[in-house]
Amino acid sequence: MAVFLLLAGLMGAPPESDQEIWDSFIRWLQAQPPNSHPGELFAAYRADETRRGVSQDVVNHRMAVISDFFQTRRKGTEILWDKVFAGSDPIFKETPTALVVSAAENRRPGAALDVGMGQGRNSVYLAARGWDVTGFDPSAQAVRIAQSNAEKAGVRIHAVVARDDEFDYGADRWDMIVVTYVKDLTINDARIFWRALKPGGVVVYVNGADSDNAVLKAFLGFRIVRFEDVETNADWNPGRKTREQRLIAEKD
Ligand SMILES: C[S@@+](CC[C@H](N)C(=O)[O-])C[C@H]1O[C@@H](n2cnc3c(N)ncnc32)[C@H](O)[C@@H]1O
Repeated sequence: MAVFLLLAGLMGAPPESDQEIWDSFIRWLQAQPPNSHPGELFAAYRADETRRGVSQDVVNHRMAVISDFFQTRRKGTEILWDKVFAGSDPIFKETPTALVVSAAENRRPGAALDVGMGQGRNSVYLAARGWDVTGFDPSAQAVRIAQSNAEKAGVRIHAVVARDDEFDYGADRWDMIVVTYVKDLTINDARIFWRALKPGGVVVYVNGADSDNAVLKAFLGFRIVRFEDVETNADWNPGRKTREQRLIAEKD
């Protein structure tokens, strides 16, 4: 035993697994106070690690593992966004997204789905215009706020706690699917949305611009009603200019 400990000491600590990296980040995240700025939470973790003497290479590796795990782990997404929505300094507009307003303008109200609805500003807007709205979000805190905002506005919405990869979109069900500031949509999302939309239904999408137009390419099987790539003050972090892409794509 003594020999083993001596050898382990000489060789350094055994390499940590990706799961260990993730678990330790989640423990850290759970202990953090609410913070309206998700970017600040990641920066604080990085700073804590550096302060504890972890080398920059190891910190970079850990951050990359954490970023990958966020793509598939509901728990992390929920804890992170619960912290953000419990924060006292919201960094988002409470008015609806201009693209959603314009997409709804010339359409007869029908069934709408709001993916990653957040505090429900677009859901509430559509419901107030007569749409039958379902919204979902992995953050229970976000869903609570969305429901309360709907009540305050005197409208009803169906609000569900779920991630995009666990929600059942169904078939021929929606006249509009809204995805604003949630994720870059993929070709797999385009396939799911095509099946889920009724004929004539639209996807209304806004997010930070990707460099190779991957979202536009993913939706080329749809009728592209509108596509823009603009430098603008986005609805999230409206204080600074960013490049964003906006898409309205119709199942024709
Ligand atoms: C920047 S906010 C945008 C909220 C809302 N769409 C809006 O425009 O106000 C991002 C939202 O996406 C949600 N989200 C993050 N990952 C998600 C996922 N995998 N599936 C569904 N929603 C997700 C977060 O919980 C958060 O509410």
